Amino acid sequence: MRIAILAASVALMTASCTAEKNEPTLKEYFSDNFLIGTALNVGHIKGFDQKADSVVRRHFNTIVAENCMKCEKIHPAEDRYFWDDADAFVDYGVRNNMTIIGHTLIWHSQLARWFPRDSAGNYVSADVLKQRMRDHITTIMTRYKGKIKGWDVVNEPILENGSYRKSPFYDILGEEFIPLAFQYAHEADPDAELYINDYAMNVPAKREAYVRIVNDLKSRGLRIDGIGMQGHMGMDYPDLDEFEASINAYAATGCNVMITEWDMSALPTVSRSANVGDSVAFSKLLNPYPDGLPTGVSDQWNARMDSITDMFIRHSDVITRVTAWGVDDGMSWKNNFPVRGRVEYPLLFDRDYNLKPFMANRLANTAK
Ligand code: XIL
Repeated sequence: MRIAILAASVALMTASCTAEKNEPTLKEYFSDNFLIGTALNVGHIKGFDQKADSVVRRHFNTIVAENCMKCEKIHPAEDRYFWDDADAFVDYGVRNNMTIIGHTLIWHSQLARWFPRDSAGNYVSADVLKQRMRDHITTIMTRYKGKIKGWDVVNEPILENGSYRKSPFYDILGEEFIPLAFQYAHEADPDAELYINDYAMNVPAKREAYVRIVNDLKSRGLRIDGIGMQGHMGMDYPDLDEFEASINAYAATGCNVMITEWDMSALPTVSRSANVGDSVAFSKLLNPYPDGLPTGVSDQWNARMDSITDMFIRHSDVITRVTAWGVDDGMSWKNNFPVRGRVEYPLLFDRDYNLKPFMANRLANTAK
């Protein structure tokens, strides 16, 4: 009896594995359009989340590190680098034959405190900061030469009104910190692709600033391959016509366009910014669906994500990569940003690792 049950359940498991094997994957679905990817956290990289691991290997052909290559993690003290997690991330990508993206070299957030300061806590001189930037960029890029395809060299340097963010880099070096970072990155690995990356890339004043900056880099003969539109979205932003106008404007610079951190909040919008330092206090009103998304909201979310996917496909002549900022809803940073402790639903896979309906339908239609 026991053997019969065992045999029956093995047969069932085999059947469901075969069924899964026959279903198309995201990377097959988008194979004529762009690379399709996800951010990985340390749990994924180290294999603590087996279900996510099989989703990642099955569906995605490009990965980016959610946190482990950021300055505070990888370079916590001037004379100390911490490589374990970043090495494991790169090994994971190499093992699985994925396009590996480095995130991020020069960024005001998650910047190690020591980086722009001297031992008394004051800002260092321009020369010292340049040297530190050069060392940081060169050491990291050299370690992963030939394995990492491209780097977010500078992240989030511009505000929505098109002005420069008052970061330590800007305060000490002025606008030059951007061209310097690109120069150092190209010197460190002449074969690596180099990107600039930001959120709210649909906003017209920001768009104009990026077009100006990218054209300026190019006119100086500096390498820049891609403009990353992070793509942190909500149900009422961004305006999709503006987003599309930005895709066109960025493509007109000659750069590739990449959707680098795609997610879409299903919850009430409290801020359109993705600046990780911002936060809004929790309230129950801001966390309306702790036990699951009501059908009406889920339908709206899926319909909007479907139109956005159409927009990406429409521009797949210039969009070379679309990367979701995480695998499943349960691990999304949006559960804690900008309000800590909300239950969010922003990613392509739900908490049970099922593909969301709008995308599952697309895949099912190709299978017919
Ligand atoms: C986020 C991570 O997802 C969180 O885990 C971390 O606590 C904060 O940073 N823009 C970026 C990403 O470029 O690096 C940020 O990632 C989200 C906004």
